[in-house]
Amino acid sequence: MKILGFNGSPRKNGNSMKLLESAIRGAQDFGAETEIIHLYNLNYKGCRSCFACKRKSPMYGKGCAMKDDFTQIMNDMLAADAWIFSSPIYNGHMSSSMSALLERFYFSHCNYDSHERMVEREYPSLLIYNMNGNQNFMDKMGIENSCKYDSFLMDRGFGKSQYMIANSTLQFDDYSKYHTAAVPVEAKIKFSEEHFPQDLQRAYDLGKNLLS
Ligand SMILES: Cc1cc2nc3c(=O)[nH]c(=O)nc-3n(C[C@H](O)[C@H](O)[C@H](O)COP(=O)(O)O)c2cc1C
Repeated sequence: MKILGFNGSPRKNGNSMKLLESAIRGAQDFGAETEIIHLYNLNYKGCRSCFACKRKSPMYGKGCAMKDDFTQIMNDMLAADAWIFSSPIYNGHMSSSMSALLERFYFSHCNYDSHERMVEREYPSLLIYNMNGNQNFMDKMGIENSCKYDSFLMDRGFGKSQYMIANSTLQFDDYSKYHTAAVPVEAKIKFSEEHFPQDLQRAYDLGKNLLS
């Protein structure tokens, strides 16, 4: 029983990673073997729209034909039992590395003949997002819809998918070193001290229950 975790932030000690580590700890406490992959260490791009995965050939349903670092990710994902994806929100969506991964993984396994899943077994997934903006801002901009849609695709393609979003996460260790005049820094730090531990706990619980 193996759970693969993906860090979709270029920062290896940022919020995405902290949330991912917490979910992974939950998965370990459930008894799963785990591994974390840092997507920004790898070289791959998004889908090239070659449609090799949709041709009437034995490749249909067998994943992405493009060969680069994603090929190994895809094989590792198929060999695992569940996946945890953790990404910052960049410009209202998951980061480009995470998006490129899901683009190629989902699309190359998505059935153009029916909505039946093309994988041989189910893969539950957990998508963890975090963002600087607070919940009001997120709601006003409809950002959760993008998270919901990612989760819907993972559900349709592979198995039960859940998501969580941590809001108002801290961007810097020391705000005084950056241009942040528009940010109510003290209130933000206070909010984070109160709420981020709850987000970590939520990630832990979801990780622990992912395969149950
Ligand atoms: C390129 C870029 C785009 C961002 N876009 C948004 C955004 O649209 N909304 C938001 O609330 N925060 C945005 N942020 C802030 C990040 O979501 C936030 O700092 C997050 O906690 C970073 O995650 P990390 O600590 O795992 O790197 C952006 C940050 C960067 C670097």
